[in-house]
Amino acid sequence: MLFELTEEHKMIQKAARDFAREELLPGVIERDENQIFPAEQIKKLGELGFMGMMVDPKYGGAGLDTLSYVLVMEELSKVEAAASVVVSVNNSLVCYGLEAYGTEEQKEKYLKPLASGECIGAFCLSEPEAGSDATSQRTTAVDMGDYYLLNGTKNWITNGKNAKYYLVIAQTYPEKGHKGINCLIVEEGMPGFIKGPKENKMGIRASDTCSLQFTDVKVPKANRLGEDGFGFKFAMKTLSGGRIGIAAQALGIAQGAYELALEYSKQRKAFGKPISEHQAVAFKLADMATRIEAARLLVYKAAWLKDQGLNFDLASSQAKLYASEVAMWVTTEAVQIHGGYGYVKEYHVERLMRDAKITQIYEGTSEVQRIVISRSVLSQ
Ligand code: CAA
Repeated sequence: MLFELTEEHKMIQKAARDFAREELLPGVIERDENQIFPAEQIKKLGELGFMGMMVDPKYGGAGLDTLSYVLVMEELSKVEAAASVVVSVNNSLVCYGLEAYGTEEQKEKYLKPLASGECIGAFCLSEPEAGSDATSQRTTAVDMGDYYLLNGTKNWITNGKNAKYYLVIAQTYPEKGHKGINCLIVEEGMPGFIKGPKENKMGIRASDTCSLQFTDVKVPKANRLGEDGFGFKFAMKTLSGGRIGIAAQALGIAQGAYELALEYSKQRKAFGKPISEHQAVAFKLADMATRIEAARLLVYKAAWLKDQGLNFDLASSQAKLYASEVAMWVTTEAVQIHGGYGYVKEYHVERLMRDAKITQIYEGTSEVQRIVISRSVLSQ
């Protein structure tokens, strides 16, 4: 067992850290406040090869491993989780899904521009009445011969406004339940496809979450991903990897808040000495550092399992569950250490606290992760 990062991993980590400091930090408060999508920053991340990190270079990707992706997610999320979620969805849901299950034609047409950062994609599973209970899809894709007729509404879609290509999960054979679901590649601008207004969110406010409406959208048969009826399994398999990305996001949010609290505690004086020298604060910092390190080990292990080609379903849910709870706890304590300053925007920790909350909700709530984990441990 080796706990050292390779020189290549360290270089990638540094590139992401520098990018976060130089390109994300200036303007992050304004983008959060005014809900401005980080379009320019995402374009630059594409140029760095961070939008299709694990994709084979022959399809425009960087050909790196999952650990590299996790390191990048962690560094970006320390500063701007609203930007890192765009990176996460594009890499681990959209690009991964297309590379693992797409046809050669689909990879040429859709994966190449998505992996090279030319455009971004979205993953559309959630519905007004199908969140955690994802098998209850109401969106329908009726088989019309050489095309599907798509009707329905999708909710809470990350990259919803700015994506060009959408992986849409829909029911084709209602009588077959989850075995009758398909995943279709839908293009922006297809007649009958309308994007709703951007949601006014508590955290990750700069990301462009919105609902999508499909009314009699004709989607060519050639745009179905995988075999007929594979859509639900496709979603589950893809989300399993996506959860590693969100776990890394949660880890980065926690690390970012911890670093700010540590620094502040050394500067701020109370009762005649820096507050870091008061045991109440020092012990908090000790607990933060310990929990973050435990989360990091879970996240890196899940990435390692995926890179080894081993089953990572349990590990990714454990990593996401634990890292997101650590993020919520650490960010709350970071605000506490900052006192009144923690409650205002200039000190960044209040944003990180708001951003942390979403990591317990998207790509499967903490309750969903506990379903996956308990089923796995009970079946052993
Ligand atoms: N790999 C392969 N197949 C899987 C699987 C996996 N990881 N997990 C489940 N399946 C299969 C099962 O084997 C089963 O198939 P069979 O009947 O052939 O055996 C089928 O899928 C149905 O599985 P379950 O019976 O376990 O289904 P369930 O109704 O009990 O639900 C659940 C399980 C874990 C709760 C699942 O519904 C789930 O993950 N829900 C949460 C959905 C989610 O994460 N949504 C996030 C939206 S995307 C997002 O947030 C992105 C973003 O914008 C940031």
